[in-house]
Amino acid sequence: MEKLTARNSEEGKNTLLVLQGPNLNLLGERETEIYGTDTLDSLHLKLEEHGRKLGVRLDYFQSNHEGRIVDRIQQARLEPVAGIIINAAGFTHTSVAIRDAILGVNLPFIEVHISNVYSRESFRHQSYLSDISSGVIVGLGTGGYRLAMDALVSQLIRAGVLSGQDPLA
Ligand code: DQA
Repeated sequence: MEKLTARNSEEGKNTLLVLQGPNLNLLGERETEIYGTDTLDSLHLKLEEHGRKLGVRLDYFQSNHEGRIVDRIQQARLEPVAGIIINAAGFTHTSVAIRDAILGVNLPFIEVHISNVYSRESFRHQSYLSDISSGVIVGLGTGGYRLAMDALVSQLIRAGVLSGQDPLA
C-alpha cells in the first residue's frame, strides 16, 4: 500500500492519537471472556504495525483518570495530531468533560468499544461521544481499533488532511 509520505507527513500531521480509558490497562487479564486476551501492549504493537502499512504515526495514552484524559485531549491542539481514536471505556457513559474536551479541539475522532455495548447492561447503551464522532466501532473485539484506523485515515484523505491511498477505496 502506498504510504502517506506526501504533504502531511512533511508537516508532521500524520499522527493519530489513540486514547484508552479506565481499566483498559488491565486488558488481557480483565474479563477475558468479554475483552479477549490481547494486552494493551500487544494491541498497541499490532496497531503500530498497521500504522506502518498505512503510513501514519500513533501516539498512545491510557489513563484511569478523567481529568488526565481531558488534559491529553487538550494537549493535542498543540501537536500535529490529525485525528483521535478513543475507547473512553466507562467514561463513555458518564463524561460530559471528555465530550467537551473533544469538541474543544475540533479533531475528527472514531469511538471504539471492544465489546458489543448494546448487548450488555442498558447503562452502556448511552454514549456522550457517539453523536459527535465521525464513526463508532462496537463489538468487533480488539480488531476494531485497526478498523477505526482504516476509517479515520480514509476520512482524513477524503478531507484532504492526509494524502495517499485510501484504505477503504
Ligand atoms: C468498553 C465498554 C464499556 O462499557 C466498559 O466500561 C469498558 C470497555 C469496551 O471497550 O467494550 O471499560 O468501552
